[in-house]
Amino acid sequence: MSVMDFMRETALEAGALALREQGRLEPGRIHSKASVKDVVTDADLMVEKLVVEGIRDRFPEHDILGEETGASRKGGEYCWAVDPIDGTASYARGTPFFSVSIALMRNGESVAGAVFAPRLDELFLAERGAGAFLNGKKVSVSTRDDLRLAMLGTGFGSFRGGDDDDCLRRFARVVPEVSEVRRCGSAALELAYVACGRYEGFWETGLKLYDVAAGVVLVTEAGGRVSDLLGGGDFPAKGTVASNGLLHDRLLERMTTERPG
Ligand code: IPD
Repeated sequence: MSVMDFMRETALEAGALALREQGRLEPGRIHSKASVKDVVTDADLMVEKLVVEGIRDRFPEHDILGEETGASRKGGEYCWAVDPIDGTASYARGTPFFSVSIALMRNGESVAGAVFAPRLDELFLAERGAGAFLNGKKVSVSTRDDLRLAMLGTGFGSFRGGDDDDCLRRFARVVPEVSEVRRCGSAALELAYVACGRYEGFWETGLKLYDVAAGVVLVTEAGGRVSDLLGGGDFPAKGTVASNGLLHDRLLERMTTERPG
């Protein structure tokens, strides 16, 4: 089985499990992590176990970074970044906006990714050099180049650690200049929406590698661009900005939160 076949099958299986478990979620199966704003459900743990066991069986020599189980590092060339349920807060409230996100990284760079939203029945897959696909159909980023017509996604992950005035200032700068800003609650899914042209762009700070690793390869393979807030490659540590490429620099200009005077 090829890496992409493995990814597809694992994402579908993991998504099906997440879907079944969403119907059975009750308060006792939802827990807080570092803060009350940061939740994990029993389903996150079950889905991560399924994915991690699959990787260990098939690629025993590869490293794994899982949102819930942490890193197992053998110091190799390949590492899998797994977010079993990206958008756990939305998932726990019964919304359809969550996804399973699985990425394969080589020497720190994403080379293949799967983002599956089981309630929406949408599987996004990308492999470096081979393009990005939604349910088997090739997708590409939007061709809109007018910021005033842009629909963007964002998130407020940086608030989990407390207040974040910069995040609010950035939001206040962007909102009046674009057509719409959406917040669906799954960064992986919002990156996938940039890849397939539904959104022109996305930005967020406070994300972790497992949130973005699959989405990044989707966006770049669909013809878009991903950077940190300053336009460099240090994402997600220094923020994540993704776009159709055409609007990237204009988005970056709005990421600075310095106030005049
Ligand atoms: C979260 C989602 C959300 C983002 C948060 C992430 P999780 O991931 O991607 O959209 O705003 O910052 O932590 O915790 O549900 O896997």
